[in-house]
Amino acid sequence: MDGNGRWAQQLGHPRTYGHRVGSDAVRRIVRASRRLGLSALTLYAFSEQNWARPPSEVEALMDLLREFLLSERDDLLANDIRLRGVGRIERLPSRVRDVLERITDETKNNRTMTLSLALSYGGREEIADAARRLAERAVAGALSPARIDEAALEAELPSMSVGAVDLLVRTGGEQRISNFMLWGAAYAELYFSPALWPDWVEADLYEAITAYQQRDRRFGKVRSDVASAADARGPTQATTAGAGPAPAIPVALGAR
Ligand code: FPP
Repeated sequence: MDGNGRWAQQLGHPRTYGHRVGSDAVRRIVRASRRLGLSALTLYAFSEQNWARPPSEVEALMDLLREFLLSERDDLLANDIRLRGVGRIERLPSRVRDVLERITDETKNNRTMTLSLALSYGGREEIADAARRLAERAVAGALSPARIDEAALEAELPSMSVGAVDLLVRTGGEQRISNFMLWGAAYAELYFSPALWPDWVEADLYEAITAYQQRDRRFGKVRSDVASAADARGPTQATTAGAGPAPAIPVALGAR
């Protein structure tokens, strides 16, 4: 969700005003995602690296998060949306953490969509934290190092509990992943939007999803029509299956 600061500065406002207008875009896009039937939406709202921003900007973002959570609670419940935070949540001030934990608990049985807020989040940090937990279990004798594989590590990554990322969107014209869902984005389709986040409207989301639907996802294999043609030619040809139909789309909207 990149571009709040620039959006505000272009209009002669402080950067924090851009974050405030950006949180209205969050509301729009969450509602549109639910209407479209997305199963998961992960929003990169605050990175581990964002703690290094000026304290006044960090404070303003924390206030906005608390406000957002309080104002969205009823809508999340009414629309069967499960809310959760991913990241080093323990670093958040208690005024945000308490509300987040309460609404996470109140919405935990909702099933139609999962809205994950990546807060104090970093993709490298998430992988390092998971590796440390596995190492601790190995040292305690509860896990054989031989059993540490991709599946074991993945099971320790909170961001992966909704599945891998299908579509990763970054707004604001930057073309970087910036430490967002590094594991889950391994085969994500990337979509870079020049629009600044506060300007993002429903049509921008539809455009991103339309672009996604036109991509040919092969996951390192070959397309199924190519595979069947190869099969028809005989057993010495490539027989790899295609990716199959696209699943319900977990979408990730990234900030830097
Ligand atoms: C990065 O871009 C954006 C952030 C660090 C914060 C994103 C936060 C919101 C959209 C609002 C609060 C979140 C919720 C979930 C209510 P930047 O604005 O710093 O970018 P720029 O300086 O490149 O313009």
